[in-house]
Parts: sequence; C-alpha cells; structure tokens
Amino acid sequence: MKWEDLYKRAYVPYSGKQDACVVLGSEGGFYVGVRIENVSFPLTISCVQAACSISLSYGENPKTIYVNSNDEPQLKYWAQEFDCDILVGELPANLNLANYSEQAGIEKVPILKKLLDYAVAGNSNFPVSAIISSDSGHYTGVNIEVSDWAKGLCAERVALCKAIADGVKTFQSLSVHTLKGEFSSPCGACRQVLFEHLPLSKAELYHANGTYSEHFILDLLPFSFTSKDLFS
Ligand code: THU
Repeated sequence: MKWEDLYKRAYVPYSGKQDACVVLGSEGGFYVGVRIENVSFPLTISCVQAACSISLSYGENPKTIYVNSNDEPQLKYWAQEFDCDILVGELPANLNLANYSEQAGIEKVPILKKLLDYAVAGNSNFPVSAIISSDSGHYTGVNIEVSDWAKGLCAERVALCKAIADGVKTFQSLSVHTLKGEFSSPCGACRQVLFEHLPLSKAELYHANGTYSEHFILDLLPFSFTSKDLFS
C-alpha cells in the first residue's frame, strides 16, 4: 500500500489537494481517513478527523497517526487529544487496513440499535447511529464527541467517511436511529454534506419511539447551496 493509493480516495473537487492519513487504534486496527471537501467549505472533513473518528467508532482510541506530511492543521489537535504519536513519511509495512464494508443481508434495526453502544457522546448523552448503504456494502457510523465540540462528527458523517475512504461513489440509502427525541433526523450540516454525495437516495429514519419514516435526501434540504452556485 502506497500513499498515492490512499490519496486518490480523497474527495477534493474544490481544492484538488488530496489528503489521507492512517490511524493505529488501541486494539491494533489500522483506519484510513481521507479529506472530504464540501461546497460549503467549512463543512470539509479533514483526513485526521475522519480517521480518528472512524477509529473511535470501532471502540479504539487513536494511538499513532501516520501522515505523509505534517501540514494538516488538525493534526496537532487530534494527536494531543488522544496522546498519539505522529509518524511522518512511511506507512507501516504490510499495512492491513480495517475493512469498513459490512456485507449483504444486513438487518438494519438490530444493527442500528447495537451501534448506539459505540457512540462517543459523553458531552451530549445523545447517542446516534447511522448506516450508509451502497452496492459495495453497508457503512456504519456513530456520533463522536471530543473536547472541541466543533471537531466531533455526527453518526451520518462518520458512516460517510468510511464509504468515501472505501472508494464508494454511488449510494443507495442512509438509515439513522436515535435513542431519544421525537424524530431521528440528520442535522442541517449533515443534510448539506449528504446532499453532495447521495441527493437521490432515501433517508430511512428510525425514531426513538419505534416509528419509521422515509424521505429523499433531496427533500430534506430545499433551496440548498450547490456547486452550481459556487461555480456560477
Ligand atoms: N448528532 C448526530 O450524530 N446526528 C444528527 O443528525 C444530529 C446530531 C449528534 C452530534 C452530537 O454528538 C450530538 O448528536 C448532539 O448534537
């Protein structure tokens, strides 16, 4: 595995600056994260934010962060947050990346319920779980909170980070479940990010009281800001 193989998975239509990193988790898993830009630039997910959040979503604290250069602005924050070593340059020999894709036959409700235990939601006490489904498998996510609230990620975006890092380009659906509240629903920021990748997909919302509703992602964000506006 070479850096170029990981870099090319980045979603960087606005800057063209591909970026990726690998996190070694406390249980020995290797997690790749790639940069995912958004037409609303401040919603861009850094590769280190993605990789650390993915590691945490599997119950592993980040221990070592492998980068090709140390100019990613969030690198210091995440390294300090989890007392990680930063290794610049070489990827680990015989890198065996964690497999993010859960295969067919997935029964979504029990998985969504089980996933809630993995949410890192110490600040809000509001666990959320999500699954993004595609032809190449299902990608799970939980919400991740860290000391800097703005650097945490919603469950939907953690699932998206896994799918994009796995090279997924076409999507089928998003499922979301929360333990509390009246309506399980992606937040505004997630709607903006999801709209960019799976506007025509269905959002399957499993509410805390056991009810269910279905929507098109497109319909969750009317009058949205799109790349057409940016490039007009
Ligand atoms: N959260 C999600 O994971 N998804 C949403 O769409 C709504 C909000 C999480 C983020 C944070 O960890 C907590 O809920 C409170 O905002």
